[in-house]
Amino acid sequence: MKDLMRMRSSVKEAVELVLNQQIQMEMVSSSKYLAMAGWCDRNGFDYSAGFFYNQSEEERKHAMKLFHYLTDQGGTAFSPEVPAVGQEFDSLRSVYEGALEQEISVTDSINRIVAVCRRESDFATEELMRWFVKEQVEEEYIARRALELFDQFPADQIYKLDKALSQITYDGNPFEDGE
Ligand SMILES: [Fe+2]
Ligand SMILES: [Fe+2]
Repeated sequence: MKDLMRMRSSVKEAVELVLNQQIQMEMVSSSKYLAMAGWCDRNGFDYSAGFFYNQSEEERKHAMKLFHYLTDQGGTAFSPEVPAVGQEFDSLRSVYEGALEQEISVTDSINRIVAVCRRESDFATEELMRWFVKEQVEEEYIARRALELFDQFPADQIYKLDKALSQITYDGNPFEDGE
């Protein structure tokens, strides 16, 4: 029976495993960002709260992108267990530091999946992962730029900083269409 199931799917077991792990990681990211949004909201940083609510939604979309891909390919995607995440932060800066840390670990994870795809000659999944590789370049840029702004704004302008943080965009993304 298991062999028959395998014939219905072109996804190798090793790839199925790492994609499920990535689904979990994206859902953990979503949960972490929701906690960050809540903390910002409670502490009067409305713009950052909005930014992190959006991020939380986006991470869930990333998880769903992988979930649908895996099931469409005949593989088994699992609704992941999401462990408790921290709800309290020392400062607005530490929230953004946490965001950068999370994005760096996601990038590492995505890169490992690409390596598994190559080892398994799974070109379809590698193609899908290309989207995630590009997405991570943007995510890391925004998180790094946020930390730069903390150094550029005087300490007594934290609410101006809050607004500026929510307006960061990556205009120079080399992967985007155009010149
Ligand atoms: Fe993500
Ligand atoms: Fe992300």
